[in-house]
Amino acid sequence: MTDIKKNMNEKEIEDYVNNVLNQMTLEEKVKQMRGNGIHLKVIMDGGFGRRVYDAAGSEKFNIPPFKFTDGPRGVTIPGSTCFPVSMARGASWDVDLEERIGDVIGKEVRAHGGNLFCGVCINNLRHPSWGRAQETYGEDSFLIGEFGAALTRGVQKHNVMATAKHFAANSIENARFKVNVEMDERTLREVYLPHFKRCVEEGCATIMSAYNKVRGKYCGHNDYLLRDILKGEWNFQGFVHSDWMHGVKDTVGGITGGLDVEMPRPKYYKFRKIEEALKQGKILEIMIDKAAGRVMRTILRYTTKEDPQIYQPNLIGCEEHRKIALEAAEKSMVLLKNEKVILPLNKNKINKLTIFGRLARIRNTGDHGSSNVNTKKSITPVKGIKNFLGDSIELLYNDGRDKDSVKKMAKEADAAIVVVGLTYKDEGEYIREFRTGGDRENLFLHDDHVELINLVTNEIKNCVVVLVGGSAITMEEWKDKVPAILMTWYSGMEGGKALAKILFGDVNPGGKLPFTIPKDPKHLPFFDKKADEIEYGYYHGYTLFEKKDYEPAFAFGFGLSYTTFNYSNLKVELKGDKIITMVDIKNIGKVAGDEVVQLYIGFENTQIDRPVKLLKGFSRVSLKPNEINNVKIEVPIKNLAWYNPKSKSWEIEQIRYNLYIGASSRNEDLLSTQFDLKI
Ligand code: BGC
Repeated sequence: MTDIKKNMNEKEIEDYVNNVLNQMTLEEKVKQMRGNGIHLKVIMDGGFGRRVYDAAGSEKFNIPPFKFTDGPRGVTIPGSTCFPVSMARGASWDVDLEERIGDVIGKEVRAHGGNLFCGVCINNLRHPSWGRAQETYGEDSFLIGEFGAALTRGVQKHNVMATAKHFAANSIENARFKVNVEMDERTLREVYLPHFKRCVEEGCATIMSAYNKVRGKYCGHNDYLLRDILKGEWNFQGFVHSDWMHGVKDTVGGITGGLDVEMPRPKYYKFRKIEEALKQGKILEIMIDKAAGRVMRTILRYTTKEDPQIYQPNLIGCEEHRKIALEAAEKSMVLLKNEKVILPLNKNKINKLTIFGRLARIRNTGDHGSSNVNTKKSITPVKGIKNFLGDSIELLYNDGRDKDSVKKMAKEADAAIVVVGLTYKDEGEYIREFRTGGDRENLFLHDDHVELINLVTNEIKNCVVVLVGGSAITMEEWKDKVPAILMTWYSGMEGGKALAKILFGDVNPGGKLPFTIPKDPKHLPFFDKKADEIEYGYYHGYTLFEKKDYEPAFAFGFGLSYTTFNYSNLKVELKGDKIITMVDIKNIGKVAGDEVVQLYIGFENTQIDRPVKLLKGFSRVSLKPNEINNVKIEVPIKNLAWYNPKSKSWEIEQIRYNLYIGASSRNEDLLSTQFDLKI
């Protein structure tokens, strides 16, 4: 074969691959359809993704392999920058930041020698007990789609193939290898697929199929999802690879289902097995050609493109990248409560500050499964606060185990910070071998954490509860006792530093919840971590709460600030194929801050069953005191469509729509107006 040209166009790639396919033996084609990894090696590496895993490619035909790396909270290979988890990033509502995170990840993938990043995790958070909630961006398909697209854009700038996963409806962890998810067509189309479509439209190179079944078929064998919808209707041009351990169940199922690559090693996509299936007429050679063709074309699209820069190992975890991890931690923390404005703490008014809780002094950056970015360099809350304060205040620490000393130290302190929440033991990918993770048992804090909060707040009123975790934590039994609550997530390697800056007012918190926190977990949809079969309904999260009129503890999109924003002058205009909304927002407080302007649309006189309202746009803006900004948000009219299962098409109702804009999904935070649609 001749050497491969740089910057080949689609036509040249197509011709090259067709030519290769004409020359390849069946065995050579089959080699394009599987990884080279050895499962035992994965386990011995101390988990998944601690190195680059090669798959496909052919030296003879000048096709490089694809080199798999994992995420999403950074590249999981040691040394990489550890960002806050995706759920935290979703709480930043800052897609520009997510794209910059993608940019860093793309560079680090390349510096590690990889060319594929399997970290665009965009499953919809149906229930906060899902063990891997932290790996996705929230409970709303639009929000998740925008974030997945931004990460894809950033990563792919560096000729790294981004993988969106786990396709589809993967949101129960313990039962992931067996559970069958049932749902009607509208639910599938409107709630569980649009975010994947969004990433496909953004050009994401590959898709990872999920372990679970959808409507009775394993996702890796699911021809309706993979062939009809993804490759057919959406015209996806990349390739689909399996999730790892049990993503393919048999040769014929995978190949007829439309799964192009078995990862991380061939179990069912072995030459002999495929040859046998061909002989028996259970699969056709054209299916092999198509799968191998997709893989080679995708690889060539990325590996022949001119690189925008050189990728040296010194990029990995460098200072500049850590700065972005810090920015993400700062922008993602959500202030849930700040009664009597006890935050920000005033250094000059405090002599003695005590930090309570075991979680304040451990590295707690999230799950220990395939998304684990194992960094020794992460800044804990205690370290972050200590570095921030220097010697200016007496800083004490108590792990919370000895009740008498907790009481005594709380009584003697001028201010207290109680760090409580979850770790990889409570939630995360469920890996039996390592006994970690899994779905959560319940949404409460552990009893000893609640007891710690009670002990401290009985002694001192000037107390802030700092929550750590990947999704909703219910707080009813203690939240009224506590004047200030800050949700900090698993905040990445710079988390402790960001926390200190927020607690003392160097940074004004601007994060907003990307999901609903219930008062009563009974308001959530049914969840069973052992389920063999489960029905996913059309409503969950805020759409369910609003439809049923349940009062949440904290609503979707909610988050406080150290300043106040005022909304006025809401205007809506229909222009061409867009709804153009403008609103003035003014910072009427004393400090600078960020606000996440949220736009929802409701369906006033709909003829069908629709949510009270749906998120259709958002924008994060920064404002100095007294500054006014005119925020413009555009919504394509096509985004108002619903999926009509009878006509099998998306339809736009010609009705009156409600448009809401404001600081959260709560009515009291929204300005509203209406518009009529007549096309
Ligand atoms: C996870 C995937 C991950 C893969 C490889 C699987 O068990 O479900 O999200 O990409 O392992 O690390």
